[in-house]
Amino acid sequence: MTALQDRTVVLIGGGAGIGLEVARRVVAAGGSVVLGGRTAATLDAAVAELGSAATRRVVDTASPESVAAFFAGVPRVDHVFTTAATYRVGSLRELSETDAASPFESKFWGQYRVVRHALPVLATDGSVVLMAGAASVRPPGPASAYVACNAAIEGLGRGLATELAPIRVNVVSPGTIDGHLWSQRPDDVREAAFAQYRRDTLLHRVGTEAEVADAVLYLFTSGYTTGSVLYPDGGYALR
Ligand SMILES: NC(=O)c1ccc[n+]([C@@H]2O[C@H](COP(=O)([O-])OP(=O)(O)OC[C@H]3O[C@@H](n4cnc5c(N)ncnc54)[C@H](OP(=O)(O)O)[C@@H]3O)[C@@H](O)[C@H]2O)c1
Repeated sequence: MTALQDRTVVLIGGGAGIGLEVARRVVAAGGSVVLGGRTAATLDAAVAELGSAATRRVVDTASPESVAAFFAGVPRVDHVFTTAATYRVGSLRELSETDAASPFESKFWGQYRVVRHALPVLATDGSVVLMAGAASVRPPGPASAYVACNAAIEGLGRGLATELAPIRVNVVSPGTIDGHLWSQRPDDVREAAFAQYRRDTLLHRVGTEAEVADAVLYLFTSGYTTGSVLYPDGGYALR
């Protein structure tokens, strides 16, 4: 994939999970990565694996000052992808207003903030990929605020694509992925969610981090694609 040769890709959340899988592919394609996250040890382990094409900077996307400081140390960026997010998911009845707002605070405003601070150093032939989630169009259960947040991120992508052209802005909206995030959740919760997902989707299985990374690499490198939402989610008949 020569389109990423000598390109710099910022991956905030890239120390683990989907972001790390994207980092592996960018480095394999001849690009370099700047990984961001809150935990230095996690980032150091990722950099040790990826080698000299990777550097890391500690950042918390909840803090505008922290995101500004992150980009102050990055002279030029070709592509940006942010998997960093920490939030609660639950029903209207169950969640406090603060917890219900947490996906918006962390996942929506965190990514908005990253794009805002990346902009001064973002190449005009570069791109942003926003992370949403297929819950936007297929609510998996009682999780209304989380569903709405993902739909809002898809809308943000369309708005930013219009506003920032010729910089391309696209959204990846995965289904349930068997990887680092779900491995940290209780076994019974994970198995129930995976069983429901296998039942409800056209391909009758959960996805892999590699399959989401494929979609992100496509959006980085597809020069005529902007304002799009890609759903690596195993398919859903009633979308
Ligand atoms: N996995 C799925 O099934 C799935 C499906 C649809 C959508 N998504 C979306 O994908 C994103 C999560 O990606 P993932 O599955 O790869 O999760 P992950 O393995 O948990 O990785 C998320 C990374 O983000 C970092 N992070 C979290 N909060 C941060 C913050 N405030 N500032 C900076 N870094 C932060 C974490 O490291 P530190 O804790 O060290 O900071 C972690 O390395 C979320 O937006 C989620 O909604 C995931």
